[in-house]
Amino acid sequence: MFLDLIQQSEICTLLAETAQKMGLETYLVGGFVRDQLLKRPSKDIDVVCVGSGIALAEQVAETIAQRKGYKPQVAFFKNFGTASLVFGDWQVEFVGARKESYSRESRNPIVENGTLEDDQKRRDFTINALAISLNKHNLGALLDPFEGVQDLKRKIIRTPLEPDITFSDDPLRMMRAVRFASQLGFDIEADTFEAIKRNKERISIISQERITDELNKIIRSNPPSYGFKLLFYAELLHIIFPEMVALQGTEMKEGKGHKDNFFHTLQVLDNVAEVSQDLWLRWAAILHDIAKPATKRFSEKVGWTFHGHEEKGAKMTPQIFRKFRLPMGEEMRFVQKLVRLHLRPIALVKETITDSALRRLLFDAGDDIDSLMKLCKADITSKNYAKVQKHLQNFAKVEQKLIDIEERDQLRNFQPVITGELIMEVFGLSPSKEVGIIKTAVREAILDNILNNELEPAYAYMLAEAKKLGLEPLQK
Ligand code: CTP
Repeated sequence: MFLDLIQQSEICTLLAETAQKMGLETYLVGGFVRDQLLKRPSKDIDVVCVGSGIALAEQVAETIAQRKGYKPQVAFFKNFGTASLVFGDWQVEFVGARKESYSRESRNPIVENGTLEDDQKRRDFTINALAISLNKHNLGALLDPFEGVQDLKRKIIRTPLEPDITFSDDPLRMMRAVRFASQLGFDIEADTFEAIKRNKERISIISQERITDELNKIIRSNPPSYGFKLLFYAELLHIIFPEMVALQGTEMKEGKGHKDNFFHTLQVLDNVAEVSQDLWLRWAAILHDIAKPATKRFSEKVGWTFHGHEEKGAKMTPQIFRKFRLPMGEEMRFVQKLVRLHLRPIALVKETITDSALRRLLFDAGDDIDSLMKLCKADITSKNYAKVQKHLQNFAKVEQKLIDIEERDQLRNFQPVITGELIMEVFGLSPSKEVGIIKTAVREAILDNILNNELEPAYAYMLAEAKKLGLEPLQK
């Protein structure tokens, strides 16, 4: 019973009183009820009534106006019979119970009115089909026709109807099944899972934005690998993200093999997720080896190689972002930079580290050095525990040296004093190869510590470099 919840929550009391005054059969439903039972915080409330959801929303706004002295705006979609309003932190959605499928985003207006149970059975999963009564005669009663409470206890995602029907009503629900499983750590019940496999092709009728939205929720869940494995074994991943599936598999030739880059990528993703909530760092983990299939070669001498996969991966990053309709601005550039640089810190473990190599890395990574180091550390995976520990120890040394050098030289946001504009002005050049050569030479000299990043010595160095190219400064 949820009597306490209704009596103690101002918004629930308001909803119940208004509905009762209108004589309208009304329930709390969906994710809000599920989250109450799971004791998860939730600020979205779904309300279903046997009648007009829009009329109820307007009346609730009226009640709020009487009690609070302000009237919230009611947004409504007449075609769909849905309305919503904001009350404090609460976002409240209203809908009339209907016989046909419940899908807020569906393009087809749904008109046929139904009972509460009609409405519940057209919802996605049993755990989302629970309702709490706001009616006088059974206020606070939990209505659970499909054993949703039991499924919450058993930690199972299951559809209320035959899964083929539920998924054909709205194929996005296949992604939602995986998303809820991954967020809540639940299993997908066998029949439901088989139906996802059977219906997977239908995902193609769903807009990329909605698919990406669910995928990002999976990426944000912990551990994200679980959702990806479900997507992979249901073969949904093959349709929505074939580039990632291409990472899967190992190959043996002349006794030489390579690791399965799909499962390695998932391990890296989980490792990153343990130390950061950042969605884009998680995307960098997903994409760090994405070009391995495209760059894979075999040579008798060294076995399998993936030369240049970091550069090719950086080229693929904007293409993949575009396809997923992910933001193409700084988020994409951040992921691209990490993909491009992901081998650099590890390479420093092997050689005797020179200060200039460390400076170069700091310069190239800039403010993203901490994220890059997190990704790199996460990339150290092996079945051999001792090997991983040894690598991590060596890696810690690189980290320490970076911190020392950073403190000393403050290189993170370093900008060379000699800019391209200055070079063009001094030598009367337009943008050209020569400008780039001089600029790079000055920058490299600073990074190699041959030169201080101060105008006077750097200017002299610039003049000397230009001279090598036969250039003289313009006479003033
Ligand atoms: N629903 C559905 N099919 C969908 C989307 C939603 O049946 N494709 C129903 C479910 O009953 C769900 C409710 O609408 O619980 C609300 O949907 P939504 O707000 O998208 O999800 P929540 O369950 O509230 O979960 P979350 O807030 O985590 O997305």
